[in-house]
Amino acid sequence: MRVFVIGGGGREHALVWKLRQSPAVEEIYCAPGNAGIDELATPVAIDPSNVAALVAFARDQAIDLTVPGPELPLTLGIADALEAQGLRCFGPSRAAAQLEGSKAFTKELLGECGIPTGFYGSFTDAAAARRYVREVGAPIVVKADGLAAGKGVVVCGEVAEAERAIEEMMESRVFGDAGATVVIEEFLGGEEASFMAVTDGSTVLPLASSQDHKRIYDGDEGPNTGGMGAYSPAPVVTPELHEQVMAEVMRPLVAGLAKRGIRYRGVLYAGLMITSAGPKVLEFNVRFGDPECQAILLRMRGDLFELMQATVDGRLAETRIEWDDRVAVCVVMASEGYPGDYEKGRVIEGLQDLRGWSNGVVFHAGTTAGRNGEVLTAGGRVLGVTALGADVAAAVGEAYAAVERIRWPGAQYRRDIAHRALRASARS
Ligand code: AMP
Ligand code: GLY
Repeated sequence: MRVFVIGGGGREHALVWKLRQSPAVEEIYCAPGNAGIDELATPVAIDPSNVAALVAFARDQAIDLTVPGPELPLTLGIADALEAQGLRCFGPSRAAAQLEGSKAFTKELLGECGIPTGFYGSFTDAAAARRYVREVGAPIVVKADGLAAGKGVVVCGEVAEAERAIEEMMESRVFGDAGATVVIEEFLGGEEASFMAVTDGSTVLPLASSQDHKRIYDGDEGPNTGGMGAYSPAPVVTPELHEQVMAEVMRPLVAGLAKRGIRYRGVLYAGLMITSAGPKVLEFNVRFGDPECQAILLRMRGDLFELMQATVDGRLAETRIEWDDRVAVCVVMASEGYPGDYEKGRVIEGLQDLRGWSNGVVFHAGTTAGRNGEVLTAGGRVLGVTALGADVAAAVGEAYAAVERIRWPGAQYRRDIAHRALRASARS
């Protein structure tokens, strides 16, 4: 079988690494790939936003299964475009991908399905949005409707701050058209958790639980990032909570989409706030989380390619996923300055020593191969050092021992990844 993975981050390295282990997979292509991916897959120089070129490549190369990693090609309709050519895609249609592409769409659907989430208002008029925040008061959350590279959410402690966010999004258009519509939402307090599942549009098969760390600094301080680390399982997702999320969120959502005539195929990712009144939905993503994917795939037993095929074919009712009992921890190493501006092209040292690492994998994110075989930094998040251990402390120890063997000028990483899981395991 010939597989085409789209993307060039840590998530895509993990996907390619896992797909490589499938006996059915003969050839993997990856657009655009990175220095780590390129050792396992043939690189393809097409941008993940160029849907027409990606589809033409899949057709010309007789690709059996295309796997988009990031949301952008999905919200641009790559699954529909592939299907129109008779080609298979592990990922939702454009209509289903609105779950990530439009917050207003999602909030309306959640209401329709009776799924717990914060109260909200959706606005295309800035004056009406301001009136609403004055009426409701702070704390309050202002969200650009469309995709804004993870920056379109402002949690506001004061009404004045919310009014500023409305002005920036709707009037100054700092996120372009993504801010034409703004969703203003109730502030929810509690601990956050991610919940991922694969679905074929009728069966919902949960993946192992996981949690990421969004802030740049230790203690969950500083600006938001794409994710500075992750671990699986996440103790916050108890067996009871797991059942509750499946019954109150995941199954009703997939059924609600089906009722609208939208069949969801692929990974569905719910961002949840575990409040004193139970789990409430913050957002949905229509793809694997990055770096949650790196931690989860290290624990997945069995064949990812077969799981993806069963999803596309609608055979998940007869499918099981088995998980390694060990804990996986992923520590992201990032460029100096990230999530702000950063330089590229710094030489990464120490990777060679970790080639035979038996308890983990160094997934590449923003890397590129230099002229003389060296590996260079090429992005904000550079590596996802991911380890398995018998318990959280062992996995954390193993991951950080590997991190300490990797060096480049200005490398930064958090030293407290999995701190909540460590505390939870100390309590039990
Ligand atoms: P989102 O992109 O919707 O996940 O939002 C990014 C981050 O903003 C989340 O991970 C939360 O930390 C925070 N956030 C989003 N919505 C809310 C809310 N209604 N209440 C409190 N925090 C929120
Ligand atoms: N780690 C969060 C995300 O992938 O959206």
